[in-house]
Amino acid sequence: MAAWGRLSLYCHEKLEPVFRRKPGTYPGIVMTDRYAVIGNPIEQSKSPLIHTAFARVTGQDIDYGKLLGPLGGFAQAVDAFRAAGGRGMNVTAPFKLDAFAYATDLAPSAQMAGAVNAMKFEGDRVYAENFDGVGLVRDVVHNLAFPVRGKRVLVLGAGGATRGALLPLLAEQPAELVIVNRTVAKAEEMADLARQHQSGSVPVRGVSYTDLGAQSFDVVFNATSASLTAQLPPLTASAFAPGCLAYELAYGKGLTPFLNLAQQAGVTHLADGVGMLAEQAAEAFLWWRGVRPDTKDVIRQLTVPLG
Ligand code: ATR
Repeated sequence: MAAWGRLSLYCHEKLEPVFRRKPGTYPGIVMTDRYAVIGNPIEQSKSPLIHTAFARVTGQDIDYGKLLGPLGGFAQAVDAFRAAGGRGMNVTAPFKLDAFAYATDLAPSAQMAGAVNAMKFEGDRVYAENFDGVGLVRDVVHNLAFPVRGKRVLVLGAGGATRGALLPLLAEQPAELVIVNRTVAKAEEMADLARQHQSGSVPVRGVSYTDLGAQSFDVVFNATSASLTAQLPPLTASAFAPGCLAYELAYGKGLTPFLNLAQQAGVTHLADGVGMLAEQAAEAFLWWRGVRPDTKDVIRQLTVPLG
């Protein structure tokens, strides 16, 4: 951070014409492109580790740092980063809505999610995306080799994480998608939103945990924030169909109460969100740099055993 502050000042005073050129086009000077993740707190973020690893394996010359955004000061912090030549940013809590407001060009994924997790800066334009949903689906379908097409899908929770995942999940054409939430009105609203925006005609329902009864599903995603406080959503073991996948969107927490319930119910396909984290980062990297990094090593490095 301090080093960036100094670099920023130096660049403004001495090197501004260089920054205005496309990186690498000034004769004899190759600029390292700068990226960062902004959040508050930010220490916990794995994004620098992930993007630095991606840069190494793809041979991209980038510098990726962490930026502690002041609460209430998101726009000023991003302005300063852009003024110092920053090319793009990942955005984490609590700034995903600030980034939504800050962007000039929102991709459909960001519009649908109502939140932004990646930005790209080009002149005055701020392009914004949300890669969480596409990262989740890529992890499930590609890394875990668990096709969603034709499956009965249950999503627990009706907050931001669910909202970001809906359209990418529906694009896989499951047999049905059910959103269950403690506050059923939010599940119903979310289901309405999904029905309005999906391009296909997958049946989508928003229900309460009681409404679920004894229905079972082939894929169950825990997109609630319950695992962050080691709580268990009021789900019964009957929700897990034989051969089902239980996927916890949180990562690095080991066997969460949700995954434990699934395991007790005999589910053998258990996953947490480490692959989703790596895949959303890979999507951002591809968007910024035009090259898709392989995620296997990063996933291996960040995996916390599920117990
Ligand atoms: P995020 O952005 O992580 O999705 P959020 O928007 O605050 O966070 O949403 C949190 C979701 O987790 C909500 O659906 C919440 O349910 P309510 O809308 O009924 O509050 C759900 N959630 C949080 N703790 C839960 C728990 N212990 N059991 C079940 N659902 C829980």
